[in-house]
Amino acid sequence: MLDVAPTVPELPFITVEGIDGCGKTTQAALMVDALKRAGYAVLALREPGGVALSEKIRALLLDPAYTEMSDTCELLLYEAARAQLVHERIAPALAAGTVVVCDRFFDSTTCYQAFGGGLDRAVVGRANELAVGACRPRLTLVFDIDPVDAAARAASRDGSPDRMEAKGLAYQERVAAGFRALAAEEPDRVKLIDAARPVEAVFADVCTCLRGAGFALAEA
Ligand SMILES: Nc1ncnc2c1ncn2[C@@H]1O[C@H](COP(=O)(O)OP(=O)(O)OP(=O)(O)O)[C@@H](O)[C@H]1O
Ligand SMILES: [Mg+2]
Repeated sequence: MLDVAPTVPELPFITVEGIDGCGKTTQAALMVDALKRAGYAVLALREPGGVALSEKIRALLLDPAYTEMSDTCELLLYEAARAQLVHERIAPALAAGTVVVCDRFFDSTTCYQAFGGGLDRAVVGRANELAVGACRPRLTLVFDIDPVDAAARAASRDGSPDRMEAKGLAYQERVAAGFRALAAEEPDRVKLIDAARPVEAVFADVCTCLRGAGFALAEA
């Protein structure tokens, strides 16, 4: 930890995104460690969840028993969980100058529910806006990997698929294409990182993106 706190960029809100098993949680943990070592106050969160109400909603969303869940119900549950997380944790932390690192955020809803699930993108965009208000990430890192490779990683880690993972390969392909489209649409905010490489090589790119966004990380 440094004696003098490093400069905090305006709205220090970072999100990590990408399909299931691409390495989000692995890279988010490394990022949080690096930011803390550089002297930043950091709040690490995950979506859906992060606070009591939203964790309850997460359990509903991921429960494979709810095969009848409609696309609109799914969208609104994600947004409800997000709105509560923003209200309880993200907005107060950002107001206090704390760096917030969130494992998934509203780009996941755009890519899963619109690109993947086929809901109207403008509708999903409005639902996202309602849930997050002014709490929009300034930097979003998308870990890009072939869905077949990502599924192999996820399978080596855990057991039976949750309700979202069970949607199949074609769905994951549409979601991955959605993330690439977002990176092309918003290149200043959304950075595409080749995640089909060793953890350290991926993390080197993460650090480059953080420095580019104004975070004072030590050179590797
Ligand atoms: N660059 C990498 N190379 C090889 N294996 C990796 C790499 N990054 C992560 N893994 C491994 O792949 C698995 C999935 O990684 P991780 O849990 O970080 O992905 P995730 O994107 O958070 O997945 P989910 O969407 O399911 O939460 C883990 O077992 C992790 O150790
Ligand atoms: Mg994860």
